[in-house]
Amino acid sequence: MLRKLLIGTALATSFAFSAHAADVKEVQMLHWWTSGGEAAALNVLKQDLAKEGYAWKDVPVAGGGGDAAMTALKAMVAAGNYPTASQMLGYTVLDYAAAGVMGDLTETAKKEGWDKSVPAALQKFSVYDGKWVAAPVNVHSVNWLWINKAVMDKIGGAEPKTFDDFIALLDKAKAAGVIPLALGGQNWQEATMFDSVVLSTGGPEFYKKAMNDLDEESLKSDTMKKSFDNLAKLVTYVDPNFSGRDWNLATAMVIKGDALVQVMGDWAKGEFHAANKTPGTDFLCYRFPGTDGSVIYNSDMFGMFNVPDDRKAAQVALATATLSKSFQSAFNVVKGSVPARTDVPDTDFDACGKKGIADLKKANEGGTLFGSLAQGYGAPPAVANAYKDVISKFVHGQIKTSDEAVTELVKAIDDAK
Ligand code: BGC
Repeated sequence: MLRKLLIGTALATSFAFSAHAADVKEVQMLHWWTSGGEAAALNVLKQDLAKEGYAWKDVPVAGGGGDAAMTALKAMVAAGNYPTASQMLGYTVLDYAAAGVMGDLTETAKKEGWDKSVPAALQKFSVYDGKWVAAPVNVHSVNWLWINKAVMDKIGGAEPKTFDDFIALLDKAKAAGVIPLALGGQNWQEATMFDSVVLSTGGPEFYKKAMNDLDEESLKSDTMKKSFDNLAKLVTYVDPNFSGRDWNLATAMVIKGDALVQVMGDWAKGEFHAANKTPGTDFLCYRFPGTDGSVIYNSDMFGMFNVPDDRKAAQVALATATLSKSFQSAFNVVKGSVPARTDVPDTDFDACGKKGIADLKKANEGGTLFGSLAQGYGAPPAVANAYKDVISKFVHGQIKTSDEAVTELVKAIDDAK
């Protein structure tokens, strides 16, 4: 992989020297934002850039969580065909930076004061070797429940504060003949839900030790076994057709009232927003029971490649637009996420967005802000993929017990490290 990437670098560099033409007024962007809510959010960016005279060359690769997109990106980079930027998650940015294929936005960052406005947790992934290599677009958080309000009223449910409350609520939905839990049976969705289950079962310190420090004792502990048992319990509330379902179709089940709740990152709120639904009236957003006070985050970054000189001005325009305060508000209102800057007012955000912004601030200050392992912020991609694989095998019955699950998890993570 590295060797191939480096051949790509050489090609791109020779390109750069031979480029005498005028600046190319085009931004080429690889991303996996193909759902209704995601496309609406991306439009905010396209329009901002169009106002500055930049054409948009879209490279969409469908598949939530971005695994398919990252495979496509690898092929492009190996061929020396760098996009202006690519959507990327955490450790993936660092991998590409280590391979020497990223550009350097430090001059722009200095001019714009990014080091003062972007939270340190994000700078760990957007700055490599002292250079800005990516522009953070947002902060998403995965430990949320998304609930249909009419169904909640119908079953007489209240906000679940503990895991047991949650099970009691799911039972009420089941008794009323509603699908209790909308889940898409794809490994990244299952693992994203499991992130929350681990935090709820073990608490903040346990989450950090197991999911960020990859501490072996924690990974094979009774608390981790209990987390798997809790996951197994949740899966009993899923409808039989869940295998392979896309995340946004699971969200649609909740929007339509076919299901009570989805456990998903706040990109789900982008779907409610696109369907003109209002929090408090049409839907409810609660923290995953037992995780209030902590935030498991991921952040979409636009990784900036070392493009030929005639494409650098477009890249700077993209990065500047992305981190502007007005864009950070307008985009994230539609996307469901919260700003990647600490100085953006919450005025335009709905109640869930305001809560998301306040929760992030509190978690950041209180030391309870943790990277999502499922979403590329807990460990490098090889480890995250091994984790997703084990969780999925457990959900789909190839791994049968929680004892077996922790053994497989430790082994898979060890092999991937
Ligand atoms: C990204 C979100 C995206 C979601 C589903 C996550 O990995 O961070 O921006 O909406 O996948 O596609």
